[in-house]
Amino acid sequence: MALRQCLDDVEASARQILPPFAIRYFSCGSDGEQTLADNINAFRRIRLRPRLMRDVSKRDTSTTILGQKVSFPIAISPTALHQWAHPDGEHATAKAAESMGTGMVLSMYSGSSLEEIADCAPSGLRWLHMDLLSNTDVMKYIINRAENKGYTGIFVTLDRPVASKKRAPNIVTKAYGRFPVSFGHFQGTDTPYKSSDKYTEHSDGINTWETIDWLQSITRLPIVAKGILTAEDAREAVKHGVSGILVSNHGGRQLDGVMATIDVLPEVAQAVKGTGVEIYLDGGVRLGTDVLKALALGAKAVFVGRPILWGLALDGECGVKRVLKILQEEFDIAMALTGCRSVEEINADLVQKGCTCVAKL
Ligand SMILES: Cc1cc2nc3c(=O)[nH]c(=O)nc-3n(C[C@H](O)[C@H](O)[C@H](O)COP(=O)(O)O)c2cc1C
Repeated sequence: MALRQCLDDVEASARQILPPFAIRYFSCGSDGEQTLADNINAFRRIRLRPRLMRDVSKRDTSTTILGQKVSFPIAISPTALHQWAHPDGEHATAKAAESMGTGMVLSMYSGSSLEEIADCAPSGLRWLHMDLLSNTDVMKYIINRAENKGYTGIFVTLDRPVASKKRAPNIVTKAYGRFPVSFGHFQGTDTPYKSSDKYTEHSDGINTWETIDWLQSITRLPIVAKGILTAEDAREAVKHGVSGILVSNHGGRQLDGVMATIDVLPEVAQAVKGTGVEIYLDGGVRLGTDVLKALALGAKAVFVGRPILWGLALDGECGVKRVLKILQEEFDIAMALTGCRSVEEINADLVQKGCTCVAKL
């Protein structure tokens, strides 16, 4: 039987061709990188409880995110500086997502403007990523343009009031200056955020939940709160009218020492139960069984960050497609092996209750 490629293989190959500063920038976490490692290890601690002897000859991996259909419950998290992975940058990522039938959250720190990305993958599902800036005029300007170009949601990052401290940042800081990328959305604005050499200067920590109220008042697009890790903040987000919550710890790049996302997912899912707010998860998703575990524990879909960058580095659009295909195929096999024909059939009974992470279920 043919051995199939996995995401670890893609990462290993990408590391052979990328320059050290790019490898470090994409792979690093903050401080001691405890949370970075835990995001992956926590998935490995969860054990599955398959159901057998069901007819799984026909399976449907499709679902919806914010009411829009995706071919499988795996979409793309916002990550900055795709041009450091491949010269085609976000264009390649957007086209791959479009052709695979899933969506992409376009980073605020994209080398191409949101208009260019919409035009290069016109039938793709796309959402805008928004860091909270102190300059509300700039946020409003970008959101208005996103509305006009068919973006169907805004993923707002809540867990970066200030920039964290990364390990060995020197090669990355130097690269900001030596290989600067102009951030497309900001061209034509009078802001310091226009280029990657000013990347670390955008946070000032002044935002509160009132900023979410303000965002709701200036846009008709649904808002997804990215970075929530507690039931308390999940309830707060619901109070402030969000349509979705992305359980995320920024891929271990912000507060180090927080719990792995898969470990806090049940708490957050429980807190918003019955509200209609959709729950997603990112952080450490590397296998189809990880996707199944996240759905079993309350996520409607998962998002991936670094694997997309490794695929992009390897082979541009084809590389990103390969990453998405590997995950889709593994998820489909995981569904069959646990007796599920559709994503609706994935439930908490499929994971072992004794795992520490599901103690609250
Ligand atoms: C290179 C890189 C840049 C990122 N930039 C941002 C960002 O600007 N804003 C944000 O909310 N998250 C950012 N993230 C975090 C991702 O959106 C996502 O939460 C994380 O990568 C998911 O974990 P994973 O890489 O293990 O899949 C970044 C992640 C990486 C790897």
